[in-house]
Amino acid sequence: MGFAETVGLRNLGSLESGKMYCGVAVIVFSLSNFMEKTTARLFRSSLGKKYVMAVSGVILLLFVIGHLIGNLQIFAHPDVINAYAHFLQNLGPGLWAVRLILLATVVAHIWSAVELTIENRRARPDSYEVKDTIQASYASRTMRISGFIVLAFILFHLAHFTLQVVNPEYQDLYTELADGTVVHDVHTMMVAGFQNVWISLFYIVAIGLLSVHLRHGIASMLQSLGWRNRKIAGPLEKVSIGLSILYFAGNAAIPLAIMAGFVS
Ligand code: HEM
Repeated sequence: MGFAETVGLRNLGSLESGKMYCGVAVIVFSLSNFMEKTTARLFRSSLGKKYVMAVSGVILLLFVIGHLIGNLQIFAHPDVINAYAHFLQNLGPGLWAVRLILLATVVAHIWSAVELTIENRRARPDSYEVKDTIQASYASRTMRISGFIVLAFILFHLAHFTLQVVNPEYQDLYTELADGTVVHDVHTMMVAGFQNVWISLFYIVAIGLLSVHLRHGIASMLQSLGWRNRKIAGPLEKVSIGLSILYFAGNAAIPLAIMAGFVS
């Protein structure tokens, strides 16, 4: 092949690939533009905000149930919960990924709650359906108050057990597992933490409010996701009440058992 032909083919080749890149760029741009507009519209609409609240609620619900199951290991041999905590603390980037997802989920949950409250206030009817309005505002007021106290509880809880700044001496608690691994003694930390009656009472009250929050939250989440109809509303109501009571009992059992000396 001569020099000129080679240059000509190369030019043709680069012209073709240039066209291809342009095509791909146009498709990517239109797609991202479409996604941006759709997401912006979705996040601006009440329905979109209700979805954000419901989906973030489901994620947080799964987290608190998983956390409770993990914490109930306090009733087994101390090595069990210590090995479990050691496993979680050593997840490295995985642990940070979960923490970031949880943080983003909490932010999304609070953002949608604030937005929906503002919208509801603007759209409040004057005098009709007074009974329904009173009931609805009672439920949403309960959600706001319980949500606010649960948030305060989470901040205290992180300072107490994760950062260990409330009692810095917890940072020096270490123990050895049966296989010789030296780990943070989370079992002793929890026992020491709940031997303080005021802290235990705060946990029990906060978890009580969280359970009330879950009970209302599950019902409105099912409504927002369109999974609640007249036929199954009754049984679902019972399931959400049962789940909240179980959740409260499981969590409250931990400080109560420690204060009573069953776990030491
Ligand atoms: C009796 C009830 C509870 C007990 C005994 C308990 C116990 C613990 C312990 C021991 C840790 C620290 C684990 C470690 O770093 O080794 C922890 C972390 C944590 N707990 Fe709880 N918890 C309780 C309730 C709750 C509730 C109700 C929530 C949320 C609403 C919650 C959210 C968290 C979060 C977000 C972390 C931090 C996880 C991390 O990123 O390291 N906990 N909990």
